Amino acid sequence: MEYHNKQIISMLKVLFMMILMIMGTQTQAQLSSDFYAESCPSLFPAVRRVMQRAVAKERRMAASLLRLFFHDCFVNGCDGSILLDDTSSFRGEKTAGPNNNSVRGFEVIDKIKSRVEKLCPGVVSCADIVAISARDSVLLLGGPRWSVKLGRRDSKKAGFSAANSGVIPSPFSTLKNLINRFKAQGLSVRDMVALSGAHTIGQANCLTFRNRIYNESNIDLSFALSRRKNCPATSGSGDNKKAPLDIGSPTRFDHSYYNQLLDKKGLLTSDQVLFNGGSTDSLVGTYSRSLNTFYRDFVRAMIKMGDIKPLTGSHGQIRRNCRRPN
Ligand code: HEM
Ligand SMILES: *[C@@H]1O[C@H](CO)[C@@H](O)[C@H](O)[C@H]1NC(C)=O
Ligand SMILES: *[C@@H]1O[C@H](CO)[C@@H](O)[C@H](O)[C@H]1NC(C)=O
Repeated sequence: MEYHNKQIISMLKVLFMMILMIMGTQTQAQLSSDFYAESCPSLFPAVRRVMQRAVAKERRMAASLLRLFFHDCFVNGCDGSILLDDTSSFRGEKTAGPNNNSVRGFEVIDKIKSRVEKLCPGVVSCADIVAISARDSVLLLGGPRWSVKLGRRDSKKAGFSAANSGVIPSPFSTLKNLINRFKAQGLSVRDMVALSGAHTIGQANCLTFRNRIYNESNIDLSFALSRRKNCPATSGSGDNKKAPLDIGSPTRFDHSYYNQLLDKKGLLTSDQVLFNGGSTDSLVGTYSRSLNTFYRDFVRAMIKMGDIKPLTGSHGQIRRNCRRPN
């Protein structure tokens, strides 16, 4: 076959453009585990030391920091926006419905950040510190280990109304709703069920499980009765009374959460819907039987969640203080 020069040149042009486009989409949102290898080589041990101390002081702190990462990522991506404080002219995400009186761990993030700023000033983002602390949280409570991807930058704005819009799923969600919420973030049903296994650690406030323990029928009766003792039926002063999400081992990152669901002892409505005669029943069974399968899928899903819309390149900034834009 014979081509004219012009045709060859235009074909090469098209090919070149295609290569550029592929490279472009890859570099734009590409995080990597060695992102700070040269710019901040002692980052990981520095974070680990602060985390060890914080978790030794209060084991629940690991749960709180894991949840912080989830709530950061689900609102406009993993961009550290949840860390920004309210000011008279700025509304942050901290008082949005799913976060108010509930998300915690900001002081630990501050401690890590100030330590890291001393070691490598202006280099490591708050969004990445949240990601590393979530990884360390799981590890310190006996869970799986993974290599965390880094290179996110910090946003200059927060999404109060986005955080209130339902992107963070409610504990009263149906299964369909949970599936859709995760799907909207690019996460599969499998990711959703595995990530829900984070509720193998930490605590919830009475107001988030009151309806479940007084009104629902797919619940173990003795479990419901014992939960009612510390969570009054009427809303008000008892709203913030706490109960462990995993009754047996609330400070161990194991798979007992799923066994609990098989026993109809899920604390939140959104926990029990994962095992209530629907499409995710078999997966709950799988994770309850195999710790390794749960760990493998959880790690995969955490990395995927950490990839939600990161700011990279020249977008955003590296905040000096995690609580306010530079
Ligand atoms: C599937 C949808 C989810 C819903 C509806 C949900 C809802 C909740 C609620 C209502 C609480 C109790 C908050 C409080 O009363 O203060 C809670 C706690 C918690 N959530 Fe979730 N969550 C979901 C998914 C996740 C994911 C994906 C993670 C992390 C990977 C996570 C990690 C945690 C942890 C660790 C706690 C305990 C926090 C602490 O003790 O401070 N959750 N969740
Ligand atoms: C957050 O909680 C505080 C204390 O319970 C309450 O006074 C405040 O109105 C809440 N903020 C929002 C925005 O709902
Ligand atoms: C139980 O459900 C009824 C009817 O929906 C509702 O009025 C009531 O407040 C619920 N009780 C609790 C403790 O949530």
